[in-house]
Amino acid sequence: MASDNNMESGSEENVDDVVEEDNEKEVTFKDLGVVDVLCEACEQLKWKAPTKIQREAIPLALQGKDVIGLAETGSGKTGAFALPILQALLQNPQRYFALILTPTRELAFQISEQFEALGSSIGVKCAVIVGGMDMMAQALMLAKKPHILIATPGRLVDHLENTKGFSLRALKYLVMDEADRILNMDFEVEVDKILKVIPRERRTFLFSATMTKKVQKLQRASLQDPVKVEVSTKYQTVEKLQQYYIFIPVKFKDVYLVHILNELAGNSFMIFCSTCNNTVRTALMLRSLGFTAVPLHGQMSQNKRLGALNKFKAKNRSILISTDVASRGLDIPHVDVVVNFDIPTHSKDYIHRVGRTARAGRAGKAITFVTQYDVELYQRIEHLIGKQLPLFKLQEDEVMMLQERVAEAQRMAKMQLKDLEDKKGGKNKKRKGAMDDDDDTEEAQGVRKRLKGKKMKKHR
Ligand SMILES: Nc1ncnc2c1ncn2[C@@H]1O[C@H](COP(=O)(O)OP(=O)(O)OP(=O)(O)O)[C@@H](O)[C@H]1O
Ligand SMILES: [Mg+2]
Repeated sequence: MASDNNMESGSEENVDDVVEEDNEKEVTFKDLGVVDVLCEACEQLKWKAPTKIQREAIPLALQGKDVIGLAETGSGKTGAFALPILQALLQNPQRYFALILTPTRELAFQISEQFEALGSSIGVKCAVIVGGMDMMAQALMLAKKPHILIATPGRLVDHLENTKGFSLRALKYLVMDEADRILNMDFEVEVDKILKVIPRERRTFLFSATMTKKVQKLQRASLQDPVKVEVSTKYQTVEKLQQYYIFIPVKFKDVYLVHILNELAGNSFMIFCSTCNNTVRTALMLRSLGFTAVPLHGQMSQNKRLGALNKFKAKNRSILISTDVASRGLDIPHVDVVVNFDIPTHSKDYIHRVGRTARAGRAGKAITFVTQYDVELYQRIEHLIGKQLPLFKLQEDEVMMLQERVAEAQRMAKMQLKDLEDKKGGKNKKRKGAMDDDDDTEEAQGVRKRLKGKKMKKHR
């Protein structure tokens, strides 16, 4: 696709990269000033050496600086803020020591797991405070006075305002993970409320793969003399990520998706849609073709959200279809392919979405669907990542052979969606909804048999 950015690759630069990598190998967590017990924790996680962002950010954080850390997706930013905080906690044990703010609930759970993994031998206690879960149960967790709170802003404010005896007046560390998102307008009111009730005398860390250039926004985080650490590749996206686009008429999106899923069978996919409804529709359509697809979106109950994610993480489902609720921070190492089924409207989201694959040095693929309506948005993405992507090659006649079967699956999905809506409207109350995830396996397998008969490649 046309773009006014040039691709460049100089051999000199490659030599530099190699030299840099060599230096990387020599540095250990211990060299950065990390205490032995935490070095051992890293070893247990099989982290042999610190990543670039960890090498740069950890010593500064240990010196007591405020840090703005900008580094590509999957590059170990969580460890870059978790290790210094755990070390400070070890040196100065205190309840309600650190608060980590994240934009999504699933990410909060994941960060908590990482703190627990790194801090298990020092007995760190974490609590996850997110929406969609029972307030009372959370109030009880808070009453136990954990060391580290990992929270989404809205629910934390709820507790600050309504849970007796809970205050963050002694807080020492504030982290905004996915900071550009946290400092965005939709969290403005909540974040301002939180900032008002925590001490100004504290350390603040902002981390993300993309950062706002608006100084005003950053100022809201009230950093004190911050150091900006920026380690990213030339193109913001990861080197080992192969990125492609396909340009197709909007009416053929489903059939191309099915073809790609067939072609790349055996892989784990994350498919991004722009609406909750489209995640459900697409999942139903794929299920009726025999794929093990599960949706994840913000209108599901929190238990279902976690259930869907866990099934995908455990490889019980090979396709996760989600809105941007899953685009940031989630670390699922086995994701092989990201499909932007609906193009992201904010170009930055592209970087985060495709960053769900090719993490921590692994390889991965990303394919973006571009229809006749998406050209401008797509060009903006190319401009942001500073390169033009190749076309994903496929045999159009083969794709079109699937049309009939896909049309049938679309009809089934439509009926099931209607069923679901009726159910929501109060009818069929006792019947299980089509998207009740407990039913998905049987249904999927039933149709898979038929498809196999028609010589369609089986998808795991
Ligand atoms: N030093 C290390 N050596 C090896 N693996 C590491 C190291 N540090 C972190 N990892 C692993 O790398 C993966 C990605 O880390 P993490 O989720 O912190 O990335 P991130 O930079 O926060 O990405 P994103 O921008 O998507 O949030 C995790 O599985 C983590 O366990
Ligand atoms: Mg992260």
